[in-house]
Amino acid sequence: MERIQKIYRISRRALIKLLILISSIILIYKILDVRTLREKKHIVFKLAAVPVGGGVVLREQRIAIIRTIHNISVFSLICPHLGCTLNLTEKIFKCPCHGSEFDFSGKLLKGPANMDLNTLPYKIKGDDIIIYI
Ligand code: FES
Repeated sequence: MERIQKIYRISRRALIKLLILISSIILIYKILDVRTLREKKHIVFKLAAVPVGGGVVLREQRIAIIRTIHNISVFSLICPHLGCTLNLTEKIFKCPCHGSEFDFSGKLLKGPANMDLNTLPYKIKGDDIIIYI
């Protein structure tokens, strides 16, 4: 009988610890609100402001939005060579620092950079484009 009580007490204690652990995890999750923090790092831009067959540069955020009839691409304007901000010309992205060039699909045309441009994830919501940075 005493042994059963001891097992019961241990189980009860373990159950209380488990409940405290679960409550703590829920509380920490609510306080940090991880999903909200992740979603806060985004930019909302009016899609109508991006001309079809053209693009828009968000200089402060170092982002370019390129729009064709069938596609939208969002590029980081941070040069993959050493991090200068790329300029947008009529036909290419060009780095003012060492001359790397990229086409409007982000493909490397000319070094010294040795990789394509980074694309940024986005979603279209109504009239807006939401870019995750
Ligand atoms: Fe752009 Fe060097 S930083 S080519």
